[in-house]
Formats: sequence, structure tokens, C-alpha cells
Amino acid sequence: MATIQWFPGHMAKAIRQLEENLHVVDIVFELVDARIPQSSRNPEIERIIKDKPHLVIMTKSDLADPEQTANWIKQFKRQGLPAIAVDSKANITTKTVTRISQSILADKLDNEQQKGLKERPIRAITVGIPNVGKSTLLNRLVNKRAAQVGDRPGVTKGQQWLRSSSKLQLLDTPGILWPKFDDEETGQALALTGAIKDQRFASDDVALYALKFFRQYYPKALQERYKLTENDFDLSDVDLLLKLTKQFGMKDDYERASDRLILDIRKSKLGRYTLNRTDGEVRG
Ligand code: G4P
Repeated sequence: MATIQWFPGHMAKAIRQLEENLHVVDIVFELVDARIPQSSRNPEIERIIKDKPHLVIMTKSDLADPEQTANWIKQFKRQGLPAIAVDSKANITTKTVTRISQSILADKLDNEQQKGLKERPIRAITVGIPNVGKSTLLNRLVNKRAAQVGDRPGVTKGQQWLRSSSKLQLLDTPGILWPKFDDEETGQALALTGAIKDQRFASDDVALYALKFFRQYYPKALQERYKLTENDFDLSDVDLLLKLTKQFGMKDDYERASDRLILDIRKSKLGRYTLNRTDGEVRG
């Protein structure tokens, strides 16, 4: 499969805007989906943000396999990237995010203090692919009562700093990175989690990818959800999809059955899962 350049015009504009905003922040919060920590990263992130300090925030960790999330945090750390996992819908993460940002920027902040500069809040921007949870996290982190801090020089007109804590401010406009991939599996992982919802991927291909994956890594979840027998696990992926199609009462409409399977997985009906594995082969 050829490399897909997502909306090249939009991507170039988004990157330009992001580059402008980078000048006014101390740190970048790069959001990745905890179910696809690799596939939801834009591989050019490092080039785009250059040497700006950077924290990886794994969103939707409530949907991901906790063991894999813990492994991913270790793996990011091994690459020199601090990382944390959040569930933006449930827990408040302001304190943790502020504390970890302070520790990443400790040298810079110490330097400023030694020069006699006044203590000031850390300024951050969230970046990530569409749907990764940038707005949700921003809303979580921002203290709604005193959200707006006002215009600041250097920030694109109309943009605002939002107050998260007395020590952390966030740019109100998240940076958008488009997903980019040159292998089919990354695309399928993005499609399965709902990160991309267009018709670029045939749903039966995504469903077959899902069946293969769940059979290998979460067979019990698959078995319990669809009441599969031992013999069903001997079927090929295609035959298993056809069996499920019948079971769903959809005769031979395997495309509709594929959509149903994908929706079940997106809605966590088969439980928590992580598609990009850290054990052995990293998929997608
Ligand atoms: P974006 O700004 O990066 O484009 O993403 P946004 O915050 O709009 O979030 C995209 C979807 O992901 C939303 O769901 C949001 O609720 C969900 N989401 C974000 N963070 C988390 C998280 O930590 N855990 C879970 N479980 N979901 C998260 P939606 O389907 O668009 O709306 P809804 O489900 O809230 O109705």
C-alpha cells in the first residue's frame, strides 16, 4: 500500500500553525490513544517539535489493556520520553500533569530563578491526531471558573491561554497532527478504534484484521461475547466472519456483520484492548 498523505493541504497548514505556536510554549503534550500508542503517533512529531520538551499523554486508558499501557509507559521512557496514561472522562489529572511538567522543565525553571526572573506558570500546548481526545483533556485540565487568562504576545490572534493550575497554562487551540502510515495494519488499527472513520478501509478487511487480532490476544473476550465453541477457533478468519454474519441474523451480508463487529469493539463490548503490542512484535 502506498504511503497515504492525509489531506496534504490541511496537514501543511496545521503543521505551520503548530510551528508558530511552538515558539510560545515551554512544553508539548503529545496525545496518543492508549489502544494504539504507535499507530496514533505522527511519525514526524519529533521533526516538527524539534527539541521542545515533550510529554506523551496516553488518552482513553480506560479502554486499553492496563498491562500493555504500563509496558508502553516503560517503552516510551526507554526512548527518553516521559509518558503518563489518563482517562479524561473520569479522573482529574491536573496535579499530575503539572507536577510532571515541572520535573521535565526543572533545569529551565531553575535557571530562570537563578537569573532572578519571577516565578511563572508553565505554558503548554496539546497536540495529536483528530479524535485522540485533545478537547476532552483540555476541558478536564482547565479550571472552568477562571479559564481564560487573556491574550499574550506571540499567540496567534484570537487564541487564548487557559489556566489549568496556578502553575500551568494551556493554549486553547490544540495542534492537529494527521495520522500518517505506509502499512495497511496501521490503517486498520486506526480504523478499528474509530480514529479514522472514512471509507478508505473496507469494513470487511478491518473486521478480518480484528478477528485475527482478538483470536491471538484476547480469545476469551471473543469467545464470551459471541458464544464461540472450541471448533469455531479452528475456522479461518473468513469462515469465522461468515459464521458471525449468520449468528447476527444477517444471512450472507458480511459487510453489515463487519460493521457490527467493529462497532462492538469500538464500544469496548469485547473489553479493553491494545492493538499495538509491546510484547514481541509491535503490531500496526
Ligand atoms: P479531539 O479534540 O482530539 O478531536 O478529540 P475529543 O476530545 O473530541 O474526543 C474524541 C472522542 O474521544 C470523544 O467521544 C471523547 O468523549 C472521547 N474521549 C476522549 N478522551 C477519552 C478518554 O480518556 N476515555 C474515553 N473513554 N473516551 C475519551 P465521542 O464519541 O466523540 O463523544 P462521546 O463519546 O463523549 O459522546
